[in-house]
Amino acid sequence: MLLKAENIALRYPNGALGIEDVSIEIGDGQIVALVGANGAGKTTTCRVLSGFLKAEDTKIIRGRVMFDGLDVTGWEPHRLVKVGISAVPERNKIFRNLTVREHFTSTAMHRSRAERAEALDFGLQLFPMIRDRLKQCAGTLSGGQQQMVAIIRALVNSPRLLIVDEMTLGLHPSLQQPLFDALGTIARQGTACLVIDESTTHTVSTAQYCYLIEAGRITKHGPSQGFADSDFLTIGYVGG
Ligand SMILES: Nc1ncnc2c1ncn2[C@@H]1O[C@H](COP(=O)(O)OP(=O)(O)OP(=O)(O)O)[C@@H](O)[C@H]1O
Ligand SMILES: [Mg+2]
Repeated sequence: MLLKAENIALRYPNGALGIEDVSIEIGDGQIVALVGANGAGKTTTCRVLSGFLKAEDTKIIRGRVMFDGLDVTGWEPHRLVKVGISAVPERNKIFRNLTVREHFTSTAMHRSRAERAEALDFGLQLFPMIRDRLKQCAGTLSGGQQQMVAIIRALVNSPRLLIVDEMTLGLHPSLQQPLFDALGTIARQGTACLVIDESTTHTVSTAQYCYLIEAGRITKHGPSQGFADSDFLTIGYVGG
């Protein structure tokens, strides 16, 4: 197993339990979906796995995260990126004042120039429209283009696991299919993906395996086929 999170509980500084008992396994090159209602703990789970906890002084109070046999519990993002975990967060995913190109040249310093160039080329093949925008200030891109830049930036790190929280939130529905297709291509090239998205139809049909989180606990998991028709798809979600 590439990633194995076991019985994670996390407390926010105000005392709130962000998650109470989350165990998730992700295999090499596998697409795994995390689904659940608003406030269930999806973003908190992403933060645990990608290391973005310190800014809010949040603490993992139970459980551990194993990645490729290594105990990475509580590691900070820069260390996790080096071992192969890159994330596209729910919010604040781009630097508004940097150009698109600067997003790609300011990451993955642990990789060689050739590796970075190859990974960037792969990313730009996924989203060719970004090639024409390299000099543009990222803050002036459309929401969809910003998401593409954020995904390419994560890919420049050559991750073994890519985490994307709310992949299509706020974007035009016509972007859902292309973004999920891109995820499929990323996984076929060997990178495992953990995806969260309010379009459960797309999420469940793209992922091979699903986890349902309710009030901070994983309450159901299994191959996606078992999720396609279940009631959970409507829990707390509008649309589909
Ligand atoms: N910074 C914070 N301080 C205190 N509590 C927080 C903080 N961030 C999240 N929480 C709480 O942790 C719980 C899980 O929130 P989380 O953001 O992980 O949910 P989510 O599943 O991503 O929801 P959504 O679908 O709305 O994005 C919620 O009860 C939330 O109020
Ligand atoms: Mg969230």
